Amino acid sequence: MDPVNLAEYEDVARGKLAREAYDYYAGGANDGITLRANVEAYGKLPLYHRVLRDVAARDTSVEVLGERISFPVMVAPTAFHRLACAHGECATARAAARAGTIMVMSTLSNTVIEEVAAVADGPKWFQLYIYKDRGATLDLVRRAEESGCRALVLTVDTALWGRREADVRNNFTLPDGLTVANLAAHAKQNFPAGLAGSGLAAYAAAMLDPSLTWKDLEWLHGQTKLPVVLKGVVHPDDARAAVEHGAAAVIVSNHGGRQLDSSPATIDALPVVAEAVGGKVPVLVDGGVRRGTDVIKALALGARAVLIGRPILWGLAADGEEGAYRVLELLKSEFDLAMALCGARTVGEINRPLVM
Ligand code: FNR
Ligand code: LAC
Repeated sequence: MDPVNLAEYEDVARGKLAREAYDYYAGGANDGITLRANVEAYGKLPLYHRVLRDVAARDTSVEVLGERISFPVMVAPTAFHRLACAHGECATARAAARAGTIMVMSTLSNTVIEEVAAVADGPKWFQLYIYKDRGATLDLVRRAEESGCRALVLTVDTALWGRREADVRNNFTLPDGLTVANLAAHAKQNFPAGLAGSGLAAYAAAMLDPSLTWKDLEWLHGQTKLPVVLKGVVHPDDARAAVEHGAAAVIVSNHGGRQLDSSPATIDALPVVAEAVGGKVPVLVDGGVRRGTDVIKALALGARAVLIGRPILWGLAADGEEGAYRVLELLKSEFDLAMALCGARTVGEINRPLVM
């Protein structure tokens, strides 16, 4: 029988994936405090639903950086989709396009930007990791621009790699045939060989630049006309600085609990970030969104839209493109139902009093 919710997609995926791949996708840093908190904090928030508001006709669409998407859920950047299914990132791109939403492609994809961009004409953003090798970094920026990506998402919560202990234990690495495809042009497509522990952590330590400051955001602005979205903010002072430094949007994120364990649940951090941003740019949030009601809560607390990471991977593992598409469609229908039961006909009618 087909899964009827996102949690059941995870159950199916767990049964199909290799142990190392499941652990890599599912894992959080250290004790998993933040990993669990992201989900649990949604469960603790009640919705004070409204009644008698004629919800016979509803519109779930919303605009994000000039793009109208079919509902306020986007595909978060996640690495290595070919661990989940043969078509990998191409399957994800087709699923997102069919569902009418934005896919954020990861720097660490198993498929090159150009191929993912060409396979489906839905809107795409490109998530950027800044390499110590700035030439390689700029090459990624150029290729994202030339492939028609409409924004860059600069991830800033990975100064050093979080310690995902399952990956350490599993000596996590990419199976033969899979690479960090976008970096092949710079001979940085493979994890360091022959080391114990997480191969990805070793790759990140060797390649990514831990010295980044706000000046590097300015540097990036100087290199591209694309809007730059800052991902990985939870502190209101950082949110203010992001706006001052020209970020086009802010993503409240703790990397799905994979970086600093004890970072707050993102739904708890969202209100202070939204207040600090003060409506100057859109605020997005990810981490732990598993239900349509979660999306309502995030919007009520000031988000323009949310992103989902792992549920897409579970969909891909369960049934490739179709599974990822069904994950998005399930969430869309849950969101539509929750809107109706909250008395909202449009996304604009989802407001703060719903969470009191
Ligand atoms: C991620 N995330 C991530 N973020 C990013 O900016 N670049 C990346 O390459 C990745 N890769 C990645 C791989 C895997 C397996 C996971 C689970 C996550 C973080 C991702 O964009 C997002 O912040 C979280 O996944 C959101 O939390 P949920 O929806 O997974 O709970
Ligand atoms: C992760 C990366 C790739 O969380 O961001 O594994």
